[in-house]
Amino acid sequence: MKTYSSKELREKFLQFYKDHQHAVIASASVIPENDPTVLFTTAGMHPLVPYLLGQKHPAGTRLTDVQKCIRTGDIDEVGDASHCTFFEMLGNWSLGDYFKKEAISWSWEFLTSEKYLGIDPSRLAFSVFAGDDDCPADHEAHDLWRSCGVAEDHIFYLPKENNWWGPAGVTGPCGPDTEMFIITDKEPCGPDCSPACSCGRYLEIWNDVFMQYNKQADGTFIPLTQKNVDTGMGLERTLLVLNGQKTVYETDLFCDIIAKIGELSGKDYAAESEENVRAFRIIADHTRTATMILGDRKAVTPSNVDQGYILRRLIRRAVRMGMKLGLPEGSLCEVAKVIINQYKDVYPELPENAAFIIEQLKLEEERFGRTLKQGQKEFDKAVARLGDSKEIDGLTAFHLYDTFGYPIEITEEMAAEQGIKVDRNGFEENFKKHQATSHAGAEQRFKGGLADHSAQTARLHTATHLLHAALRQVLGDEVAQKGSNITAERLRFDFSFGRKVTKEELAEVEAIVNKNIAAAYPITLEESTVEEAKAAGAIGLFESKYGERVKVYTMGPASKEICGGPHANNTADLVSFKIQKEESSSAGVRRIKAVIGADPDAE
Ligand code: ALA
Repeated sequence: MKTYSSKELREKFLQFYKDHQHAVIASASVIPENDPTVLFTTAGMHPLVPYLLGQKHPAGTRLTDVQKCIRTGDIDEVGDASHCTFFEMLGNWSLGDYFKKEAISWSWEFLTSEKYLGIDPSRLAFSVFAGDDDCPADHEAHDLWRSCGVAEDHIFYLPKENNWWGPAGVTGPCGPDTEMFIITDKEPCGPDCSPACSCGRYLEIWNDVFMQYNKQADGTFIPLTQKNVDTGMGLERTLLVLNGQKTVYETDLFCDIIAKIGELSGKDYAAESEENVRAFRIIADHTRTATMILGDRKAVTPSNVDQGYILRRLIRRAVRMGMKLGLPEGSLCEVAKVIINQYKDVYPELPENAAFIIEQLKLEEERFGRTLKQGQKEFDKAVARLGDSKEIDGLTAFHLYDTFGYPIEITEEMAAEQGIKVDRNGFEENFKKHQATSHAGAEQRFKGGLADHSAQTARLHTATHLLHAALRQVLGDEVAQKGSNITAERLRFDFSFGRKVTKEELAEVEAIVNKNIAAAYPITLEESTVEEAKAAGAIGLFESKYGERVKVYTMGPASKEICGGPHANNTADLVSFKIQKEESSSAGVRRIKAVIGADPDAE
């Protein structure tokens, strides 16, 4: 059997779609811009939501890419054969261009043609949507697979639970999908064995979503005027399945990382106990994800909120697993160096940000190390006090979190290792009592995302550009955007700057923005390559590939910035601008929250 490398699979996929007139675009950041509905980019479609909803993409209507994705929902499964918190998703998109016919016949060609993956058709199975009250059964997809030559008993009609795809947030573009599976050597688990069961006979490798609806906040589905195709093929999992390997850790993506952990710990991965093998894998996975978050654009550092909390959890869990293996202090940095080197050609931002990645890993490991031993004593005492109850109370769990830096999940994991539970509700109650902000914060995440095209969101987005430009005018070129988050009520802007911004400076920034609002500059949009935009003096996040076409929004002489939009039509639409707060966000990064005077309900 042929063994594919990750490089080969990425290149083959992109080349195939390039040959079918798709523009290859760069992976967007794993930390979503202007989207509070999710903490991380969870799928290739996520950064494309505005375009799936009808905005024009500067690179055209056929796109393909490899997108860095993070999903931490199944973090407890990491250590098994295939769950990863970071993965790369290969994808192709039609933005109102082709639909089911081309999507299916190209998927078929890529999977089966000798020139591409050359998979024997008898090893492939397909599922299509069975239909319900929201959307009819997808006979068209079924018939298209049939016309490719797929046998009837290799096509399965499955319900929404299996064959429907929508974004991670609650609203947005979605639709029925058709999924592609490799049939393994495992015998069917019973007469009803299908791709819907988890017996391991069918392993999913690709998903073509026919995005034809926009899900509303009230749960209803409105047909989209523009019908799209969104596909996703997970690189790690597809490699594993294609190569007939048993775990993702055997693929070239993980080999060197596992070898490094072996070298540092003096342990032999292949000969270790199940528990130690799991520790190897968790360290490999979590360090890889932490490296990807830190190296993305230096926007997130370990903290107790949002993405920073996830990052902290990943690093601290990896450190704890490292202790099990006897890894010396500082080992995560050594593992990260292997990861940076491995991905240097695919994600050049990693070597660019290498010093930052290593520094942050080292700092966080030191921070955790300082309190870990004391915390362990405290934890042991708490366990000894338990008697028969077998449950650590919420206040103790909070104390371990607050004083010793144990993420609640680590306390839970340590407890589970001894067959003990933790009172999670009690922990959350104490957390709320003691802290103004919640690390979950999920309830705040439902409005104002990329799928929210309300006029007020567009105006706040425009205000963000004016603020960015004014900050650079007052504080200098050191200021660069590090993050942005817009809800229906306010904007939040994170930027690089080494000290607190004074009251006077803030007043000056506010006055400049208000002057630019009063000047009533029309907002214009042009498309150009990223190099042309830079040459024209545009600021913004330059994450696009060389030569890639981008959108540039200009607001009179006040601002010129690369951005996906949407924006107000005129700066006057904002009415007025007020800074509510300026504070530290993380080392070297400041955060401003601001509001505008426009009536939120005005269209
Ligand atoms: N967006 C689809 C997925 O993530 C393709 O599976």
